[in-house]
Amino acid sequence: MKVTVVGAGAVGATCADNIARKELCHELVLLDIKEGIAEGKAQDMMQTATLLGFDTKITGSTNDYSKTAGSDVVVITSGLPRKPGMTREELIGVNAGIVKGVAENILKHSPDAIIIVISNPMDTMTYLALQSTGLPKNRIIGMGGTLDSARFKYQLSQHLGCSPSDLNAVVVGGHGDTTMIPLIRLATWNSVPVTNFLSAEQQEKIVKDTMVGGATLTALIGTSAWYAPGAAGAALVESIVRDEKKLFTCCVKLDGEYGQKDICLGVPVTIGKNGWEKILDFKLNESEQAAFTKSADAVRNMNDVLKTL
Ligand code: 2OP
Repeated sequence: MKVTVVGAGAVGATCADNIARKELCHELVLLDIKEGIAEGKAQDMMQTATLLGFDTKITGSTNDYSKTAGSDVVVITSGLPRKPGMTREELIGVNAGIVKGVAENILKHSPDAIIIVISNPMDTMTYLALQSTGLPKNRIIGMGGTLDSARFKYQLSQHLGCSPSDLNAVVVGGHGDTTMIPLIRLATWNSVPVTNFLSAEQQEKIVKDTMVGGATLTALIGTSAWYAPGAAGAALVESIVRDEKKLFTCCVKLDGEYGQKDICLGVPVTIGKNGWEKILDFKLNESEQAAFTKSADAVRNMNDVLKTL
């Protein structure tokens, strides 16, 4: 099994580190356009192999895609991260060109790869990767909802005073501060609806804090977060390479599900050896469906910007 992570910045390097620690593949390639950074970080990680006890072989490459040949899974993290005060959407101009180029280069050397997109604005970058490569839709997966759902569980756990691992909660829709939809009505604490234990004010705060989860961290750290985004990418790689068929919220191409077409948006899907395999298409209530439609409209407007670039 071979995995490539494109982009050796904080998110890409953290994702690679998680993949190696879990020994999700024999060969792991870290690639970056900036001279030396991927080689350096790959060596640094390899020097943890005896300390952490993993056997994955990590190599770095400065923009030499031949090193990525034959990858089964490729994670794209390339592009600029957010600065404080910036929205993910403001990155579209620069990141669209980068992601398109990366996806095309990857496919030249790994025609059968499953591609996970992390670069922002993630919903539009996923759509762009699908359009520009013409790959079957199941092989292009946007990571956003996996991260947002993890952040939602964290926020819930803080109010409930419980382990985030005992919670089931999903965020659907776009991966933007105003487009994501934390489905608090359906969130459970070991099967018991969390709404039993939270006041209306608490529920509102949890939803709001989840939606601005990334922006809050960007303001604190001075750049976009990386531990949870990197771990979310690695969790998807794990479900693919081990064919786990675990359920994650991912940004995938919709063909009528949730009333949407010709768009990539976050919905619950199973992730296995074929990429995303099955969409859980269930009935949202009226206000959730209205929020989903509004989110789709906003993402579609963003996708339209691609035509002007
Ligand atoms: C975030 O929300 C990187 O978009 C990512 O932190």
